[in-house]
Amino acid sequence: MTGRTTDRIERLKRERNAVILAHNYQVDSVQDLTDYRGDSLGLSRAATEVDADVIVFCGVYFMAETAALLNPERTVLIPERDAGCPMARMTDPARVRQLKAQHPDAAVVTYVNSTAAVKALSDVCCTSSNAVEVVNSIEPGRPIIFTPDQHLGRYVAEQTGREMILDRGYCPTHVRIRPEHIIKLRRLYPDAEVMVHPECRAEVIEVADVVTSTGGMLRHARETEAPALIVGTEVGLVYRLGQENPNKEFIPATTAAVCPNMKRITVGSVLRALEDMQYEVKVAEDVREPSLRAIERMLEIGARPAGAQR
Ligand code: 13P
Ligand code: SF4
Repeated sequence: MTGRTTDRIERLKRERNAVILAHNYQVDSVQDLTDYRGDSLGLSRAATEVDADVIVFCGVYFMAETAALLNPERTVLIPERDAGCPMARMTDPARVRQLKAQHPDAAVVTYVNSTAAVKALSDVCCTSSNAVEVVNSIEPGRPIIFTPDQHLGRYVAEQTGREMILDRGYCPTHVRIRPEHIIKLRRLYPDAEVMVHPECRAEVIEVADVVTSTGGMLRHARETEAPALIVGTEVGLVYRLGQENPNKEFIPATTAAVCPNMKRITVGSVLRALEDMQYEVKVAEDVREPSLRAIERMLEIGARPAGAQR
C-alpha cells in the first residue's frame, strides 16, 4: 500500500510540478517523502527558493501561510486543513493593538507561530533560530513587545538584556517537558548532553546544556563529541537526528511531548492533497502586504549560525 502510494505521489508531483516541504516534527513516513525538511526559518527560506508551481506544505497552518505569503504566484497546499498551532491562536490583532496602545514607543517582534493578521501589526517577525539576532537588531533603548510565546520571549530577554514586554502565549507540547524528566535522564545517561527548545519552561532551560531551535539541534548533534543527547523538544525530531547520526543515541526528554497538530498529516493526506489540489492556503488581501513586510525584514536579518550554548 505505502509503496504504491508513494509511487502515485511521485507521479503526481511530476505532473503538477510540485515540491513537498516538511517540518522536522512531521511523522516519519511524511518526512521520508519530502524534498526539503527543516525548521521554521529553513522552511521560510526554502519557500523563497522553490522552483515549482505547487508547494505541498507538511507542517502547521502558520508555516504554510508564510510560504503562501512568500509565493503569491504559486499554489500552496496544506494536506490537513485543521493542522493549526494552538500558540498562534493565543494572541490576536485586538490584543496586539492593546499592547501597542499601552506601550506606544515599543517595537513589535512577533514569533512566526502567529496568524498573518498579527504579523501585519508587527515591525518584524522571528523564529526560534534567529530571535536573539532579530531583537538585537531593534534600535538600542527602544522597548520591545514580544508576542505570542512567553517562554521564547523570556529566554530572548535574558540573552539580550533588552526591556521586553512579554505576551502570555505558550506551546502546550513544550510545557509538558519538566525539569524532573531531564534530571532523571541525566542520571541514567551520565555522558549525555541536554538540548532543549526555547519554547520550554524556564526551569527546563535552567538544567539544559544547549538551548536552540530544531535546526540548531540538528547542527549541534552533528558537531558534538557527546555519544548521547537528551532531546527537549517535540518527539518527531528524534527520527531525523537518528538518521543523520547513526552512531549517537537520542533520548526524548519525555515521549509525552507530541504535537497532535503536526501529526495530523499522513502519506494518505499528502496523496489526496496532490490528487484534489487541496487545501489551498490563501492570505487575506488586507493583511498580505504588511505581514509579508514583517517576514521579509526577518529574512534580511539572517539566521543565527549555531545554537546558543549555556
Ligand atoms: P523550530 O523553528 O525550532 O523548528 O520550531 C517550530 C515550532 O513550532 C516549535 O514548536
Ligand atoms: Fe505550535 Fe507547539 Fe506544535 Fe510547535 S510544537 S506547532 S509551537 S503547538
